[in-house]
Amino acid sequence: MSEHRSSNQSNDVFDYKKRIALLEAENTLLRGFIDIGRTLGTEHRFEKLIPMIIEKISLHLNCERSTLFMVDWQKGQLWSQYAQGLTTQTVTIDLKIGLAGASFLSDRIINVTDAYEHHMFNPYFDHTTGFRTRSVLCVPIRSEQHRPIGVIQLLNRKTGSFTQDDERFVLSSIEEFTPAIEQGRLQTDQVIQWFQHLRSTIDFERGTLFLYDPETDMLVSRYAEGLKEGQSIRLDLHLGIAGRVAVTGTHMNIPDAYADFRFDRRTDDQTGFHTRNILCVPVSNAKGEIVGVLQAINKKRGAFTDSDLNVLTSMASIIAIAVENAVLFTEQRNQFKSLLQVMAASIDAKDTLTAGHSEIVENLSLAIGRKLGLTEEELDVLSVAALLHDYGKIGIDDYILKKPGKLTPEEYAQIQKHVDITYHILSKMYFASNYRKVPIIAASHHERLDGSGYSHGSRDADIPLMGKIIAVADVYEALTANRHYRNAMPPEKAFEILKDEVSKGKLDGKIVETLESCIFQTTDPGSADP
Ligand SMILES: [Fe+2]
Repeated sequence: MSEHRSSNQSNDVFDYKKRIALLEAENTLLRGFIDIGRTLGTEHRFEKLIPMIIEKISLHLNCERSTLFMVDWQKGQLWSQYAQGLTTQTVTIDLKIGLAGASFLSDRIINVTDAYEHHMFNPYFDHTTGFRTRSVLCVPIRSEQHRPIGVIQLLNRKTGSFTQDDERFVLSSIEEFTPAIEQGRLQTDQVIQWFQHLRSTIDFERGTLFLYDPETDMLVSRYAEGLKEGQSIRLDLHLGIAGRVAVTGTHMNIPDAYADFRFDRRTDDQTGFHTRNILCVPVSNAKGEIVGVLQAINKKRGAFTDSDLNVLTSMASIIAIAVENAVLFTEQRNQFKSLLQVMAASIDAKDTLTAGHSEIVENLSLAIGRKLGLTEEELDVLSVAALLHDYGKIGIDDYILKKPGKLTPEEYAQIQKHVDITYHILSKMYFASNYRKVPIIAASHHERLDGSGYSHGSRDADIPLMGKIIAVADVYEALTANRHYRNAMPPEKAFEILKDEVSKGKLDGKIVETLESCIFQTTDPGSADP
């Protein structure tokens, strides 16, 4: 951050024209973010959010088409989860062909002015639809766990090419709806409490905590009094009082904001709030790096004093510790998750036909869990158990796992052992607090409600809910994927089989119904190959 700071500061701040251009760009960005923030304030559901976000992005960037592609690892394809400017038909594209695939696989933004000039561009759709692609912006999307999950593709910016600001806008909009973990876990309640505490000493109207986002090189409001929940403000580092404090690392006490040329009044103009005076201090971590900015606006009587500054500065150091803990927590969590992903992938890698099985079962389980109203903590546990449910297959001979024909009773008995092996291996791992049930949950995915499953023959009441969820996701994934002994089945057929299992008292009917509603709320990705 420091390199960036000094170079930009010396070049930009004194370049009046450039500053005006930045102000304009920032203004557009800010308006967009406030807009999106408003949307988020009223609508939290991911699936409903997607069209909204895509529409916002495409409206904001003024382009002809915008599509959200999600990955289908099994088929090696991207499929359009949502497309604006197209019919409702689902489009599937090969991961290895075209710009969207290239952006996804390389995990890089692709921004081209003339698609036909780019060697990776695939003119197939233009040829078949009569559409003429000119400029293209592809931005890869990552999940909460930082796994690549899809790509947003925008076509033909009406004013010409896509700019770097456009790239930043898309990136930040994506981040708005995939929970921002880097700054997450810093509970809003906690921040509110800090402000209450501050207010008991200093009487001011509004407080804002901005955190520095290294990805976009901007300040993002972690909590801003006066804004609704879900709304946020993003500020360029080169603008305004907060930006200046973040860049210089020095506090600022502005007694009359409108008389100070460094004050950026556009947020006031947009919100109708009137800023009189500001006290703003940097939040820096133990290494002295600026991680955010704490700001108090409009002291009720007079201007902010030196003693107010001391109070705000000590609060900033408390916040710094919490922010650092949150970042550390996130890093540890990501490290933990990536270790689990490697473990799961090592099982799937034993057989190319089942590659991606664990991850798909995890995603299906999470979709069910979310719809059933599981809490975020419970979803975390479900995600780990689902990802590792078949880990015990590491101890099963490859020839049985890959056998094309029917298994002999001995071989079947062998394969059933993977559940106990899963349990034994996972029990040896150290799982903290709420994750402790992971081995039991993971090892219950072949139990059936009527007691006919394995390895314990447990019945309904003795099988953990999460085990029942993984069981349904596992069977569904197995049916809809290619196997050595049969081809993939369409979802409709798979649900017939699942419902049959429900009527036989083996699988949980509510869970099967929930999965069905998850699968059919979007177009089947496999049914509309162009
Ligand atoms: Fe299994």
